[in-house]
This record gives sequence, C-alpha cells and structure tokens, in this order.
Amino acid sequence: MPSKAHWKFAVKVFFLSIGFNVIISFEPWYVGLLFKGSVRQKTDDRLSVSGTEYPEGELLWCTLSDRSWGRVCKFRNLCYMHINGEFALFHGNTAKTGHEQDAQLLGNRLIKDIVSLTSALGAEFPFNLAHISIDNIVPGKLKYFNYRSGSYHLFRAFNVGNTAHAIHDDLLPVFYTLSRYDNLTEEPTSTLIYWRELSLNKLMGFYQLFSQGEPISQNDLTFEPEESLTCFQDIIVGLSTETLWYQWGLPGFEPEGALKGSNATSSHIAKFTGYVRKRMGLPLRCPIANDYGIIFIRKKTRLILNEEKLSEVLSKTLQLEMRELSLEKNTFKEIIKTVSCAKVLVGMHGAMMIFPIFLPPSSFVLELHPYAINPRNFTPYKTAVELSGMDIEYRAWRNMNRSNTVTHPTEALHRGGISHLSKEEQERITNLTEIRPHQCCQHPEVQFRLYQDTLIDIPSVVNILTNTQFYKNRNGKFST
Ligand SMILES: *[C@@H]1O[C@H](CO)[C@@H](O)[C@H](O)[C@H]1NC(C)=O
Ligand SMILES: *[C@@H]1O[C@H](CO)[C@@H](O)[C@H](O)[C@H]1NC(C)=O
Ligand SMILES: *[C@@H]1O[C@H](CO)[C@@H](O)[C@H](O)[C@H]1NC(C)=O
Ligand SMILES: *[C@@H]1O[C@H](CO)[C@@H](O)[C@H](O)[C@H]1NC(C)=O
Repeated sequence: MPSKAHWKFAVKVFFLSIGFNVIISFEPWYVGLLFKGSVRQKTDDRLSVSGTEYPEGELLWCTLSDRSWGRVCKFRNLCYMHINGEFALFHGNTAKTGHEQDAQLLGNRLIKDIVSLTSALGAEFPFNLAHISIDNIVPGKLKYFNYRSGSYHLFRAFNVGNTAHAIHDDLLPVFYTLSRYDNLTEEPTSTLIYWRELSLNKLMGFYQLFSQGEPISQNDLTFEPEESLTCFQDIIVGLSTETLWYQWGLPGFEPEGALKGSNATSSHIAKFTGYVRKRMGLPLRCPIANDYGIIFIRKKTRLILNEEKLSEVLSKTLQLEMRELSLEKNTFKEIIKTVSCAKVLVGMHGAMMIFPIFLPPSSFVLELHPYAINPRNFTPYKTAVELSGMDIEYRAWRNMNRSNTVTHPTEALHRGGISHLSKEEQERITNLTEIRPHQCCQHPEVQFRLYQDTLIDIPSVVNILTNTQFYKNRNGKFST
C-alpha cells in the first residue's frame, strides 16, 4: 500500500528582487523505494509571459525522503537561469488552476538541498531549486531561451582529474543511477552534465562512455547572454550512493576509510566493468594462453627506484611474464584491456590502483606503500578488491626502512613539499615514523610521506608473495 509522507521545506528566498518567506509541502506517494509526486498538476506544458513562452516544470519523483545524500530526483523541463546560476521550475498562474497546494505556492521560493550533487560523503554539494510562478517573472529578465530536448543526468564531478575518484565517486554512481532509473543497459541513455567549471581533459573519454552526447560542463553554459534560460526536457538529478565503498575523510567526518553501511558488491563492479569493456569494444573473453602480471609504473612522482629489479623478481617468483603499464604511456583502453586478463597486479598506492576492479577472478594484487604510510589507514583499493564476492587476493607491502626512501621537501605542497613550514615543524614531520589517521586534504605530513620515492626491499616482497594462496596454487601447479 502506498504510504503518505510530507516534505516540508522552510524557505527564505530573495529572487529577482521579490522576497518571500513561506513553507511549502507536497504529498508524495511511495512506489517501492521511489515516491512520485508532482509539485503541481500539469495542465499545459507552455506558459506565457508577455509573448515569451516558458515550459512548465514538473518534479516527477524523488528517491529517499530522509537525506539529500544519495537522493535522486527526476524533473521535466528543469531550467537553468544564467542570470543567477540557479535552476528553476516554472509554474503557471495560481488563480487559474485552483489547485489546493497553490494556496501556499504564492510567488517564488528556493527549495534548498533537494539533492546532493556529489556522492562523496561530506562534500554534499546541494542542488537548490527555485519554484517560480510566471506571474513573478520580471518581463525582460529571462528572454533568450534554449530548449534541450532529450534525457540528461546532472551531478557534480567530485575530484576532477583523478582516475580513482572519477570511477568511485562519479562513474560507478552514474552507471548505477542510470541503470536503475533510466534503463541504461548497453548504450548511454542520457547526456551527462558534470557541473564543474574544470575540463575533464584525459578522463573525458571515460565519462563519454556513459553519455549520449558530449558531456556538458558548467562552463559550456557560461557563454550565453545573462538573460538566457536553458531548459532540459527530461533530467535525472543526483547520484545513488549504492555502489560507494569509501569515504575520503572530509572535514567533519572520520579519517578516510571504508564507508560504513556500504552496499557495494562484486555484482555492481562486474556490471560496471562489463559495460566499460563493451563500450570500449574490448573482447569479452581473454586469450587462452594468457599468463602474465602487470606492474604499474608512476613516471613522475612516488617512484619505485628499483622497478626493473622488482619486476624481474616478481616474474621469477611467480613464474609469469611481467608487463609494465603507466597512465603516462598507456591509454585507458590499453590499461583496461591488459588488466582484464592479467593474473597479478603490483603497484604503488595511488589512483592507478583503482584498475584492479577490472581484474579477472582468482587474481592477486600487491599494493606498495612508501615509508611511514600505514596501509591500514589508506584502504580505498583494498576495500574495493575485497568487496563481497570479488575473489581477488590482496596484500599490502610497506617500506619500513627509512634509508630506502627519498623525500622531496622542496617540492610544492601537493607534491610533498614542506620547505614552506617552520624549521621546527619540518623537523617534527621528518621525525615521524608513522603518520596518524588524518582528515582530507593536503596535510603536509601526509603529502610529504605519500610523495616519497621508494627503493623496494626485495626479500620482504618475496616473503609476502610466497605466503599467498595465489603462490601456493601456482606452485602446486608448476611442481607437479
Ligand atoms: C524502463 O523500462 C520499464 C520497463 O520496460 C518502463 O516501464 C519504464 O518506463 C522505463 N523507464 C524509462 C525511464 O525509460
Ligand atoms: C545501503 O542500503 C540500506 C538499505 O537499503 C540503506 O539504508 C543505506 O543508506 C544504503 N547505504 C548507502 C551508502 O547507500
Ligand atoms: C635499510 O636499508 C639500508 C640501505 O638499503 C640497509 O643497509 C640496511 O641494512 C637496512 N636496514 C634494515 C633494518 O633492513
Ligand atoms: C627530532 O629527532 C631528533 C633526534 O631524535 C631530536 O633531537 C629532535 O628534538 C626531534 N625534533 C622534533 C621537533 O621533534
């Protein structure tokens, strides 16, 4: 049976020089997880003010009623007002409709935080919506009109340029949201609007896999005249949090770690990786004679100083060919193609270590950590490959020997520099043998240690390898 619920938004608005202070409520009804509820009854989908026509807006449904993080809503004719950077739904003359709720819907109001546009816990970027009676439009303020027909998905990319963040925070949630609410299966069904001023650069191709048209940024809308209105015909707003497994330790939350109450499983990952491979035109099966491992190489920072030696020893110990991949030299397609059929993946802690989610079952991952970095406090990739059902063996190695590390105190802060700090603070940081669990972002002591180069202690790596189930299975195979 559908149950009733009320949303009440206390709202204060000053918009287009008219201010109101009102409470609105509407009664959605539940359909499973979804509730459907029109802000108002649809009468005609064109509204007119002194000759200009406005599309009548509708809120079709929203999920969840208790929090905006993870809520997803669908709108018809959602408009972006260039003059003030707000989104709006337009409704008609209240007197004409005689709709009961309209008694309270006098004038304009801004409904705040309907949806969080980012999926990152603590970075909840609120989606606010002005609900505007066309009676209150000041003639001439909104006169140029771009109508974009078709389906759209609006969210905010959280950490632009970082592959791991793109996949965990944006693309898995986009994929899952659109699969669930837009019937996405094999082909994109909507055009993505990623609501950042930054360009996605190298990652654009990745987002493109999920987008019907070229993904739209906030910048793409800034060249219109101020008095413009851009309206989207059918638009899903927000990201499901169903696939998240990590929280990044944003201020006000615990230090970074596995997300409490995560519902992500291997089946979310498998559907996503399957979709990506198919869209990239990669073969669905691996060649039979594939027996190789991968070593991920970072070319600029956080280097492995003896990578050749490490690769050689890995190859000898595990009895397979080791291939080298890097974000600098290889395309995403090459990386995903190679990882999808690999048996082993070894790399330094960093964004590339998101790619193990593409590994086949029964594979093995070794993540390396620089000096003073406790692997237990940096677990986005461990958590991913250990999601329920993943069937990937994971081990962490950390450098315990201070003489095997090379620090970069004179670099910029984001590359581990500390020379901008007082002598005493520099000394305190240099003295630390382990950095404590931390809140996000760019703490000098965290950056200093994360951006070290490392000479890997080979015997300790071999010791880890020979104690894995993976090794034992292979060794059994090769010695019989
Ligand atoms: C998705 O598919 C279902 C069942 O085929 C259909 O009822 C629904 O309208 C579709 N939704 C969208 C957004 O296309
Ligand atoms: C996981 O599912 C439960 C039950 O549906 C829900 O309450 C919870 O919010 C979900 N967790 C996340 C992170 O979405
Ligand atoms: C640390 O590394 C140095 C240089 O590589 C080496 O001489 C030393 O024996 C190592 N110390 C330990 C405790 O392994
Ligand atoms: C750093 O360690 C050295 C040697 O143990 C000690 O003399 C010094 O006081 C320490 N500095 C700070 C700021 O803790």
